[in-house]
Amino acid sequence: MMKNIVLIGFMGTGKTSTGKMLAARLGRAFLDMDQQIEKKAGKSIPAIFAEDGEAAFRAAEYELAKSLSEKRGLIISTGGGTMKREENRALLKKSGIIVCLTADAETILTRTSARGKRPVLDRAENRKAEIERLLGERAEIYAHADYTVDTSELSPLQVVEDIVKHIKKYG
Ligand code: S3P
Repeated sequence: MMKNIVLIGFMGTGKTSTGKMLAARLGRAFLDMDQQIEKKAGKSIPAIFAEDGEAAFRAAEYELAKSLSEKRGLIISTGGGTMKREENRALLKKSGIIVCLTADAETILTRTSARGKRPVLDRAENRKAEIERLLGERAEIYAHADYTVDTSELSPLQVVEDIVKHIKKYG
């Protein structure tokens, strides 16, 4: 069976838009973990954080990672914090190739400027400082990828072509 391609990386690195286009390009099914969690909960991620707490969201993320680890052939976009949990890293790694999307703090700040969408950033007093702090804190977990693409200067289409080229080399 074909491996999954799992997109990981910080908020605003383009996991969802790239994932959708990559799936279309390769003729594979696309699954966005955040969207799946929202669908199951019947509410948005900010609402889950506000009403049920971050721990409830992380638990839902773990349950989903478990079920996705049994699937193959999918293009999966994770949430920016999915890989924080060691079990999630192991589960997703077992299912496929891990591709990390990165971007510099300034680019991430611009791409995540909309309020009310990212509770992890909305609760910070200084958004830029919080992005930099979290990038430092999470650098280690994103380093678990098989392949990394810096998306700061690239369009999603260019990112897709880069990934496709790399995956072909993989065989
Ligand atoms: C989070 C990132 C979000 C979403 C949730 C928590 C994080 O996903 O899962 O708000 O902890 O980095 P995106 O990376 O798709 O924004």
